[in-house]
Amino acid sequence: MPLKPSKKAVLSIEDGPTVDLPIYSGTLGQDVIDVSPLAKNNHFTFDPGFVATAACESAITFIDGGKGVLLHRGYPIEQLAEHSSYLETCFLLLNGELPNKAQKQTFEATVHRHTMVHEQLRTFFTGFRRDAHPMAILCGVVGALSAFYHDSLEVSDEEHREIAAFRLIAKMPTLAAMSYKYSIGQPFMYPRNDLNYAENFLYMMFGNPCEEFKVSKVLSTAMDKIFLLHADHEQNASTSAVRLTGSSGANPFACIAAGIAALWGPSHGGANEAVLKMLEEIGDESRIDEFVDRAKDKNDPFRLMGFGHRVYKNFDPRAKVMKETADEVLKELGISNDPLLKIAKRLETIALEDAYFVEKKLYPNVDFYSGIILKAMGIPTSMFTVIFAVGRTVGWIAHWNEMHSAPFKIGRPRQLYTGHTARDYPH
Ligand code: SDX
Repeated sequence: MPLKPSKKAVLSIEDGPTVDLPIYSGTLGQDVIDVSPLAKNNHFTFDPGFVATAACESAITFIDGGKGVLLHRGYPIEQLAEHSSYLETCFLLLNGELPNKAQKQTFEATVHRHTMVHEQLRTFFTGFRRDAHPMAILCGVVGALSAFYHDSLEVSDEEHREIAAFRLIAKMPTLAAMSYKYSIGQPFMYPRNDLNYAENFLYMMFGNPCEEFKVSKVLSTAMDKIFLLHADHEQNASTSAVRLTGSSGANPFACIAAGIAALWGPSHGGANEAVLKMLEEIGDESRIDEFVDRAKDKNDPFRLMGFGHRVYKNFDPRAKVMKETADEVLKELGISNDPLLKIAKRLETIALEDAYFVEKKLYPNVDFYSGIILKAMGIPTSMFTVIFAVGRTVGWIAHWNEMHSAPFKIGRPRQLYTGHTARDYPH
């Protein structure tokens, strides 16, 4: 439905024209100024890092960074974490409403029917070195899925988009667990459809063909909550990568592979792995002050991994839930004196009291606590961002689908050119 301006901004350009810019209001959050008329007046906007740019209209997720609010289709993340499940939240993100009992059963049954991957993909893995990073494998294998599913690549076809969504949501845990098993030289475990989504993932990760594997209820509940808390987060870097890739008409598997690649960076989804590496580098509580000082030093590129956020200038509401889950898991596993976890707790206390972090509103984010839980659960550090990617797949697909469900143009940002003016080739 076309947007209707609620008011307008008038931009008067010195020695130039005055341009009327429509202003649109959403249901929540900041109003937006439509700057497209500037192009006709020979100007572009300039906003490196898109700090003040709304790249699209969306109805999936809303974040109020000042108040620490995160809504998925209007439902607060705290309530979904307490009462919902990852697959129910997937239905909500994709369809806009919570499922009724029958819809939930059908959705879960359909996901279960797509958990296996083509047997030929197993040989694909053997092309990687055993010590390949699981994110490198996941990038490659997910992109390669388009070589197997020629029946669902017509992105303008809603049914193709739906089957691709089910295949991706269902197969990501299987591919993630295969990436791990490959790296430790253990046989791949086939998915088990008598287990729920999180139980099945832990089974494929830690089970083996030689013995019965019992999935701990506390750990599978924590795993499901971790997937749920990572499900979507509006127009973050990786979701924006998926939208931009999708705007060229690329197939869904290529788009999700682009999202996985963008997520890998330590400033984004790679932060949970970077948190553990940082804690290992700190090594002892006596060295925390040294690292906090480095994080504050303008001349030192070191950042405190797991702290700060582009949007949240208050506590990340997911971090609060994640912190409670961390305490539950540590208690269940009887891990109270793990040295790295003790450093993490001490670091959190110091950072929350330190004037630099308070002034810059740098709070622990979702990645700070997820790294702690995953380590306590025995998940190898190299798998942390893979697990983030498994949870976020539904958010990427929901945004990709939302874009395809309405008219859109290929994304094509412009630039401020500061290079050479035209010059002739020297003869
Ligand atoms: C995720 O966008 C999303 O929604 C992402 C995410 C999602 O669900 O998709 O929430 C997931 O990516 C969470 C963020 C994980 N990343 C980290 O934990 C890495 C450490 N954090 C920083 O790299 C940083 O805070 C960012 C990248 C997260 C945010 O960077 P911004 O918004 O670009 O902020 P900035 O770099 O402009 O920092 C503002 C100021 C700067 O100081 P000044 O130049 O103003 O003097 O705060 C400082 C920064 O130097 N600062 C930090 C810091 N983060 C910011 N100083 C020390 N340690 C940090 N962690």
